[in-house]
This record gives sequence, structure tokens and C-alpha cells, in this order.
Amino acid sequence: MRVELSNINDLSWDVFRKRKFYLWRYRELIPIPLDAEIFTLYEGGTPLVEARRLGSLLHVRELYIKFEGSNPTGSFKDRGMTVAVSMAKYLGAKGVVCASTGNTSSSMAAYARRAGIKPLIIVPKGGITKGKMSQGVLYGATVIEISGGFDEAMSVVLKLAKDLTLYPLNSINPWRIEGQKTVAYEIADELGVPDWIAIPVGNGGNITALWKGFKELKRLGLVSKLPRILGVQAEGASPIVNAFKFGIYKPVIDPTTIASAIRIGNPVHWERALNALTESRGYALSVSDQEIIEAQRMIARLEGLGVEPASASSIAGLYKAVELGIVGRDDTVVAIATGHALKDPDSSLIHDAEYYEVSDSATAIELINKLVSG
Ligand code: F0G
Repeated sequence: MRVELSNINDLSWDVFRKRKFYLWRYRELIPIPLDAEIFTLYEGGTPLVEARRLGSLLHVRELYIKFEGSNPTGSFKDRGMTVAVSMAKYLGAKGVVCASTGNTSSSMAAYARRAGIKPLIIVPKGGITKGKMSQGVLYGATVIEISGGFDEAMSVVLKLAKDLTLYPLNSINPWRIEGQKTVAYEIADELGVPDWIAIPVGNGGNITALWKGFKELKRLGLVSKLPRILGVQAEGASPIVNAFKFGIYKPVIDPTTIASAIRIGNPVHWERALNALTESRGYALSVSDQEIIEAQRMIARLEGLGVEPASASSIAGLYKAVELGIVGRDDTVVAIATGHALKDPDSSLIHDAEYYEVSDSATAIELINKLVSG
């Protein structure tokens, strides 16, 4: 199903700017029926953080991080869910389902509850972080853990979707894309159009949505140029990067990476993701787990932003793209940080920190005095 905007006249940024800065500010550009009730947790309106220190480390003159971790459930998925769950309710769905590496499921469970619908989530056994699993449990989702990873989980949803046993809320649902495209509107609204946008790629839904959003703004005359898109995958799970490089798409069997959110071997949207990369005159590259963890550390320690490993991959990829001369040092760049560090505490605990254990306050004070003077 393709969803297109129609009959839109007289829109300007002024119309939007009179409203609260959250996703539904762009109501006219989200083509759900006018009588549909909107179920929102005030998602979107996420901070666009200027990252001067990190930018200077990466040799990028102007770098911004779009911090999607500040969405209500801690990831960009909330943008798609407010729209798709509102539609699920409008269509009379009693139950919703998704396959997930953990963020889609957390978000779906929250919004389903907000709309009074029952959530069922299918997640890779042992493949999602504690933070994400705890969200599904808290919202009372029915949880099915499946062996064989995300791709196996996704195949269940694709089968269910055919006979509509449950309403599917993976990004094969076009309403998800309609919500997620608003990240493009927000960037253009606040900053204008940057030269490059770096984005992590898993199933390929978000890069598809980002590109759709910018193309719509151009068509509506709200922006005059388009950004180039840098798509980043983890080395052990990079079928789209391989297709971009070699011209042939081949799923990755048994994908591996520390960035569990994007541990996906056979992305549903690989064709649309490739299209966004080529149409935007963009680029795709993969990064190692070590590069991802190093980027996660830099984002935290230079800018104070905590992001999960999948999100850090966009910065790791940007670093490489600048080194390769693909992104220019004078370019304006926005990196999308898709999810919050609290989603994956184990990955945060990998990092070094000065750590001491003391028995009482006197010892603590003695130690601190020594550390401060020493
Ligand atoms: N970053 C994070 C934190 C994610 O959770 C995901 C996807 C992506 C990036 C990639 O986005 O799939 O649209 O290309 N997470 C999905 C999930 C697969 O189930 O939560 P994509």
C-alpha cells in the first residue's frame, strides 16, 4: 500500500511553528482520516543537539545529533507508532503484533495500551536487551521468544499479515513510515536542509521514511534542496551496504553485532533503503563493533548524550565517511541517534570508569581528598 499526500494548499513553516513542537504539529502531512482519533504520548519534537566537540574530533564543521532517545519509550519508533496504532484503532483492531529487536516492541506495547489494544510481540530469543524486554513486560505485552533471530520473527508476522489474524505493526505497515518521516520535517523546520544525514540501517524502514519526508517537503515547496544520506550498518549485519557496494542483494545468514537493534540479515525494506541511498546521491558503509563502542563512548563523553550501540553506529560511520573524503569537512551534518543508552545498560557497562568501593564515609572522604589532590 502506498500512501501519498493530496489536496494540500497554503502550508508554510509559520503554520507549524504556531503549534507545540511534537509530531502532530505536522498533522496536514500525515494523511490519516480526519475523523481518526489520535493516540499520542507527545512523541517527536526531539532535541537537535549541536555537537561541537564531537564535530571537531570528526573534522566536521557543523554537526548536530537528533536525539531520538528522548521519545516517550526511548526510541524513534514512537513516531511511527502514534500514527499506526491510531489507524489500528480506527480500523477496529483488537490485537496488534510485531517482530522486533526490542524497540519496535517496546513502542508498540506502550501505544497499544494507550489505545486500549492488546499487544503481542515476537522477539529473538536471547537477542534483545534487558531494557527493551522490561518495557514489553511492563506494558503487559504477550511475549513470544523465537529461536533464529529477528528474520525468523519477521517471517511469522509476514504470514500473520496475509490473513490479518492480528493487525501487524512492523514497518511493512505504511502508517509507520508516515509517522517516522516526521523526523525529516523537524530537521528542516529547525535547521533547514543539511548536506548529509547519517542514519543507522537495520530493516530499512527509517531510512525509507527519512527520504520520503524530505522528498515531500521539496514537492510542497517547503525546502529547496535535498540532503545526501549516509546509511550505516554493522559489519556482521550489512546486506544493504553490500548491495550498495556490489550491486547484488544477498541476505546475511546468522547476522552478528553488539548493536542488537540492527542485528538483521534480511531487511524487509532493502530495496527502498537502496533507493534512498542512490536517489539522494548518498553512501553506505559498515562499521565494526569496536568502532561502534568507541563512537558510543565519544558521544557520551564529549557531548553528554547517552545512545545505544545501534545509534552510535551513525557517528562511527560518519567518522569513516569523513576519512574517506565522502563527507566534506565544510558540510553540515545531522546524525540520527535512534535510541537511548538506557535501552542497553550492558553495553554502557563495557566502558572504563574510575571505580572504587569503600566501607564508610570517612574512608570515602579520605579517598576523595587523595584523588583531588593527586
Ligand atoms: N536504531 C535503533 C535503535 C533501532 O531499534 C532500529 C531498528 C534501527 C536503528 C534501524 O531502523 O530497522 O528502520 O532500519 N529496530 C527495529 C526493532 C528492527 O525491532 O526495534 P530500521
